Amino acid sequence: SVCVVAFFFSLFFFNTSIHLGCVFLLTGVLAQEVYSPKPNQTAYIAASYVKFLESAGARVVPVMINRTLEEYKKLFNSINGILYPGGGVSIVSSGYEKAAKIFYELAIEANNRGDYFPVWGTCLGFEQLTYLTSGKAVLSYTNTSGVALPLSFTNEAKDSRMFKGFPAQLIKALASEPLTENSHKWSLGTYNTNEELRKFYKVLSTNTDGNVEFVSTVEAHEYPIYGTQWHPEKNAFEWRQPYIPHSPSAIKTTFYMAEFFVSEARKNFHKFESEEEESRALIYNYNPVYTGTKSSFEQIYFF
Ligand SMILES: *[C@@H]1O[C@H](CO)[C@@H](O)[C@H](O)[C@H]1NC(C)=O
Ligand SMILES: *[C@@H]1O[C@H](CO)[C@@H](O)[C@H](O)[C@H]1NC(C)=O
Ligand SMILES: *[C@@H]1O[C@H](CO)[C@@H](O)[C@H](O)[C@H]1NC(C)=O
Repeated sequence: SVCVVAFFFSLFFFNTSIHLGCVFLLTGVLAQEVYSPKPNQTAYIAASYVKFLESAGARVVPVMINRTLEEYKKLFNSINGILYPGGGVSIVSSGYEKAAKIFYELAIEANNRGDYFPVWGTCLGFEQLTYLTSGKAVLSYTNTSGVALPLSFTNEAKDSRMFKGFPAQLIKALASEPLTENSHKWSLGTYNTNEELRKFYKVLSTNTDGNVEFVSTVEAHEYPIYGTQWHPEKNAFEWRQPYIPHSPSAIKTTFYMAEFFVSEARKNFHKFESEEEESRALIYNYNPVYTGTKSSFEQIYFF
């Protein structure tokens, strides 16, 4: 196939930073427990995360909770990256946490071998990453349950992998307009002195609730591991809360963030062993349900 040819070509001519855009590009999105489960509705993924990745050219594979280590290992070798969405489950003891921990450890191990596998955490997913990296509950309360904020970029943002490809005008808008939606009560305080977190992550932006300053965007120094306490996917795809921004710059923020993560997922060659296996795993096997009248998400995939 073209991908295989391109793979050998790239090995020969370039050592690093392979951008092929192979057609099998697949990104996992982790499911989580439903708060009040019903028959056939025990876990869910908000559809906005799926649309977010699809908008940048990826196909989505739902990563179910409560699966075995063997199943997760096989899936890890079949997908090109994983996104831990926002939500409300425990980051210390839930099916979401167990699966997130396994994929995090597999990603570290793979990246150490030169197998570039990106991990992205949004909101709860970011909080989950702080727990996985430090092994400790390090978050503190902030008054940030529903507010859009401009980012306070740090000096490290300019040369970051995440933001360096953004148009200068969009960076300017992100720094001055409330384009990043926050729906969280727990945050990583900037005063936090946890050694593991400081060694592992570069802080790209901070925010404040008026009293407490917290970390809002990170990327790992040595690994393609990224976190935002805010919600890049909501601007383009969620409408239930009045504080979600929908301006042209807000929508561009969604797409540039998605494009960045998907471009990271283009850098490995994981794929399913067969087309049949791939077809069975894709999100296309499930239908999202319109939940906008009774939930904070417009559409949800239930499992
Ligand atoms: C649950 O899903 C199964 C298989 O799709 C179906 O046969 C069954 O009727 C569903 N049960 C309910 C309560 O919806
Ligand atoms: C996952 O496993 C836990 C504990 O065994 C169980 O309570 C829960 O209902 C399961 N959830 C799903 C979505 O399978
Ligand atoms: C929380 O923040 C909102 C604005 O986002 C503000 O109106 C409210 O007074 C704050 N509450 C507290 C307890 O500081």
